[in-house]
Amino acid sequence: MTGSGGASVMVSGGAGYIGSHAVKGLLGRGYNVLTYDSLAEGHRQAVLGGDFFQGELASREQLDQAMSTFRPKIVMHFAAHCYVGESVEDPGKYYRNNVSNTLNLLEACRDNGVEGVIFSSTAAVFGNPVSLPIEETHPQAPINPYGETKLIGERMLRDFETAYGLKHTVLRYFNAAGADPEGQLGEDHDPETHLLPLVLKTALGKRDSVQVFGTDYDTRDGSCLRDYVHVTDLAEAHIMALQRLLDGGASDSFNLGNSLGTSVLEVIQTAERITGKKIKHQLCDRRPGDPAVLVADSAKMEKSLGWKPKYQDIEAILTTAWDWMAAHPDGYNKR
Ligand code: UFG
Repeated sequence: MTGSGGASVMVSGGAGYIGSHAVKGLLGRGYNVLTYDSLAEGHRQAVLGGDFFQGELASREQLDQAMSTFRPKIVMHFAAHCYVGESVEDPGKYYRNNVSNTLNLLEACRDNGVEGVIFSSTAAVFGNPVSLPIEETHPQAPINPYGETKLIGERMLRDFETAYGLKHTVLRYFNAAGADPEGQLGEDHDPETHLLPLVLKTALGKRDSVQVFGTDYDTRDGSCLRDYVHVTDLAEAHIMALQRLLDGGASDSFNLGNSLGTSVLEVIQTAERITGKKIKHQLCDRRPGDPAVLVADSAKMEKSLGWKPKYQDIEAILTTAWDWMAAHPDGYNKR
């Protein structure tokens, strides 16, 4: 892809897992980058360059300060809470951050001359799939507060464009996974609830075992199928979407996945092969709110923007995650 002409991009949540990979990609393409992050969950060490502003999305004052100084043309909005289970137990936390704080950010964008927003959305906006693979036109009927809050984010963007002309691109990730292939960045959540890091932590001896949530689904081995998509491929998708907005492209939404379903048991078996370790696992009851199968149809992103994931199978994705985890067994803070 060609360079940027030095456009200025503010990245909310740029110290987080997916945001930090996007910042790395932007810096490599010559964009001017400002990471805006509270560091409540992100890691300062994960921001590999550009400007940094430690601020809260809840603070209009801090947002205005950052935006009036940096004058971003485009904002990539990654900062959000993103655990389905937690959103069921503590919905207020999700509505506050993913809805109220996003509204705050959008109003700051409107008032500070931002031209467009690239928004991190999720497969969770679709709820239980009625058809597979999931296309952009699939009905949106979330089954948990996380998905609801992201859907509200999508709707706010639509309405802000109608009212104020603020453009947007919605990118709906399926299961983000893997780590920077150059080993500089990886996944470091606390607490960790995602399958791949939990499986690899078990291989590393940091956990005794991993639970398999449900073995009686109507799938090839009874465990859930998910569409794991590499975090660097997601970062690339953001840069393509950014360039498209800068080139005058219209607001739109895209689903991002590999269009390939991998089961929980297949993840464990593949991880055993890659790590050379036996990964102890317990077969457990289903986790509430988990659809049996979530697989993306990413043809629209491929046709419109030429996006094609480089990491197409779970083995390649797991290998990058394992390389990072083996080199950073305690995450960023204890290298
Ligand atoms: N799983 C286990 N054991 C675990 C953790 C997960 O068996 O200890 C299973 C889950 O049941 C699921 C699969 O592994 O079938 C993947 O689970 P994750 O928790 O890693 O990811 P989710 O599919 O729940 O969530 C992801 C994103 C969300 C997004 C969601 C869309 O993390 O942000 O996909 O449904 F909303």
